[in-house]
Formats: sequence, C-alpha cells, structure tokens
Amino acid sequence: DFMREMAGLSDMEKQLKSILGITRVLILPQDSDDIPAVKANIGKEAARLLETKFPLYKKIAVTGGSTMAAISKEITADKKDASLQFIAARGGLGEDVLHQANTIASLFAEKTGGAVKTLYLPDHLSAEAYEMMMREPVIKEMMELYDQTEVVVHGIGNAEEIALHRKSSVEEVNRIRNGGAVSEAFGYYFDKEGNVVYRIRTAGIQMEQVQNAPFILAVAGGRSKATAILSYFKIAPPQTTLITDEGAARKIIELT
Ligand code: F6P
Repeated sequence: DFMREMAGLSDMEKQLKSILGITRVLILPQDSDDIPAVKANIGKEAARLLETKFPLYKKIAVTGGSTMAAISKEITADKKDASLQFIAARGGLGEDVLHQANTIASLFAEKTGGAVKTLYLPDHLSAEAYEMMMREPVIKEMMELYDQTEVVVHGIGNAEEIALHRKSSVEEVNRIRNGGAVSEAFGYYFDKEGNVVYRIRTAGIQMEQVQNAPFILAVAGGRSKATAILSYFKIAPPQTTLITDEGAARKIIELT
C-alpha cells in the first residue's frame, strides 16, 4: 500500500528476493534490535500468513526462539480445526521454556483446536544415547512425522550467540568459531557460504526433511541478524518465505 511505497519497503522486498533467491519476502517497518514491538509485528504478519495455509496443509513443524514465540502469541483460528497437527521440530530441553519448540507447538495447537506432538529430549545427545533414542518407537514416530511435514516454521540465529546461549561445550564453541559459522537453524551451523560447519546430534527435524516441505516460513529480524540471514539463505529451500524487518533488510542490502 501507499505507506509501504513511501517507506520504500516494496522496493526493498524486490531487492531481497533477488539477493536471497526466493519468491516471497515481507519486510516490516523499523528494526527489532531497537524496538521490541517490531518483533511482535513480525509475529503478527507470520501468523496471518500461516492461517491462510491451514485449510491446505495440516502437518506443521515449528522450531523455538523468541521470534517463533511472537507468532504463537498472535495465532488464532476463526473455526477450530482438529485436523491440524503441530509438531515440535526439536527437543529443546535446556532452552528457556517459553522459547522451546514444544511450548510453541502446544500454543499453536491450543489456539487453533489442532493436535500437538512434542519431543522432550535434551538437544545435545551423546552418540550412544542418540543411537538408542533412534530405536525408541516414540522417536521413530516423530521421525516419520518429520517426513510427512508440509509446513516448517523456523527462526534463524547468530551462530556464536546461539552456541553460547545453549551452554555448548568449549570444544563445540571452538568448532563453531574456527569453522567460521555465522548462522544457525534446526541445530545446523552454517558459514557465510552456507556450508554446514557443525551440527548438533539431535533427534529433531533434518535438513532433508525441511527441503521436502511444500511451504516453509522463516522469521528473523534486526540488523544484527543480517549476516546470519544471508548465510542461511545460501542453502535455504527456494519455497521459503522470509518475514523480516527493515533493520535486517537495509543491512543485507548494504552488505551485498
Ligand atoms: O533455538 C531455537 C531457534 O529456533 C534456533 O534454531 C534459532 O537460531 C533461534 O531459535 C532463533 O531465535 P530468536 O528468534 O530468539 O532469535
């Protein structure tokens, strides 16, 4: 509309689509690094877009983080739909409860009348524990659900920030740093070119499963995330829509 034209947002959306190699980008005004309400607006916009997908797609996997939590606050449903199924994309124990994929999936389900599948496991598993978990029927069932996932909604983080926040081991932080990782999503750490530098051994959704989903929504804003967004979109599936803010968008354009 007129206001967006005035602010040059439509123009920036066009630029970002071409830089990131995707067909849909939505930019909210201002910068969530400075103004917390901007993150709430990203949440609102993401919720409205997702609601349009509910009649079509029923199996929806969600990750954690504060931007995802902002969506869960905004999601609503005109008519309750019991055929919707929200799937926690990660175990995520160890993370702040409100920002866990499990909590967010539960909120989505509660608000839309759908069902929820949670995964309560530590994010980091030893090789032995991982092997054993993969043989557990409840975990196998989650893996099958990830195979069938139609919509993936996820955040993108700064690699180092996330690594430190997760209380990763010194060895892990060193691998992430020395490998030049700048972004993180789904437990994968990527460098500037989009190469996987490190990945957490987790029972969550795998990148191959994300790639198979017909609709993917990424939410990340703030100029501090520009490098992370650029990195992740080197490998992001082309069916990904990005909802971001002006702060991140301006910085991305400046960096390229
Ligand atoms: O920890 C879950 C997660 O989705 C990460 O994969 C991602 O990097 C991060 O949260 C994004 O969090 P936020 O939206 O708070 O920046």
